[in-house]
Amino acid sequence: SSNTPEIKIEFHTSPVSDADRIKALETPGFGKVFTDHMVLAKWTSDKGWHDAKVTPRRPLELDPASAVLHYAQEIFEGMKAYKADDGRILLFRPEQNASRFNQSAERMAMPPVPEELFLKAVEELVRIDRNWIPSGDGSLYLRPFMFANEAFLGVRPAQEYIFCVIASPVGAYFKGGAKAVSLWVETEYTRAAAGGTGAAKCGGNYAASLVAQAQAAKKECDQVVFLDAAEHRWVEELGGMNVFFVMNDGTVVTPPLGGTILPGITRASVIVLAQEKGLKVEQRPYSFAEWQADAASGKLVEAFACGTAAVLAGIGLVRHAGGEFKVGSGETGKLTTELRNELVGLQKGVTNDQRGWTR
Ligand code: COI
Repeated sequence: SSNTPEIKIEFHTSPVSDADRIKALETPGFGKVFTDHMVLAKWTSDKGWHDAKVTPRRPLELDPASAVLHYAQEIFEGMKAYKADDGRILLFRPEQNASRFNQSAERMAMPPVPEELFLKAVEELVRIDRNWIPSGDGSLYLRPFMFANEAFLGVRPAQEYIFCVIASPVGAYFKGGAKAVSLWVETEYTRAAAGGTGAAKCGGNYAASLVAQAQAAKKECDQVVFLDAAEHRWVEELGGMNVFFVMNDGTVVTPPLGGTILPGITRASVIVLAQEKGLKVEQRPYSFAEWQADAASGKLVEAFACGTAAVLAGIGLVRHAGGEFKVGSGETGKLTTELRNELVGLQKGVTNDQRGWTR
């Protein structure tokens, strides 16, 4: 459509050398290494989306009055490109990211990015920086984001925005790799209240999570568990991912999407995979009290965290103000491992994709 501009391509004239790139791909960690290019596009209230391009990655120059620096009008996505053994490069349900991006945009009073532009931007960047995709277990983490860039200090939706996509080769999100993670249950700080921005993938939600996540780190835990803002009773999600509970009768429980929880694409995919394995998936409120009781009685056999960055990570230990308890054996559970392997198998093109999830 007229609102979907062509993407111009400006190649880097001095990209990272082959030797340096190959070295960087050996132990990429998470989010520290970046590719040679990025995508940029501009939106103004008079012209809509324009000047879309793949261009050498470089620092952005912002006016100090740029709205994003003051009122945090910013959203982002997380997605991964995998290299299949047969050489294909695969994206996983990218249209889901495009659609969630626009739901986030709507909540933050930002203009939508046409789905076609979002997908083409991501695909072009992956194509041009394809030799930055690690092989084996690694992947190329893609970070599409948009921010208000009007130099104006009044509080209202900005009239200028920048859409950008950067790419970062990554290994495992958690340093321990496949080792089960530990959680700290936060009872003071909350992440999102009813009517707030909890379902939007906006930077502000993550800013709001940081003191609680730092508290978790102080308790030597990998992630914080947020409880609901009204009663501090119901489990919502972790610092940067959704959470699932597996019961000994084959029931899988995960908190329902009600506006305060990030609607994870990994979450949605895991629900389908679990259902197709014949498991009963309940999206229902699950309280911290119930969690403690189920862990104590042995009803709870596994729990896992899931997200694009983390994939699926078993939860072994839960710490809280009143003590701590193990989930199951304290190790990553059998179903968690199975679901993780199924998901990664699809994402890497090892398993035949019958659902049309890969592209
Ligand atoms: C993800 O991509 O899974 C996120 O939610 C972002 C962050 C935890 C790295």
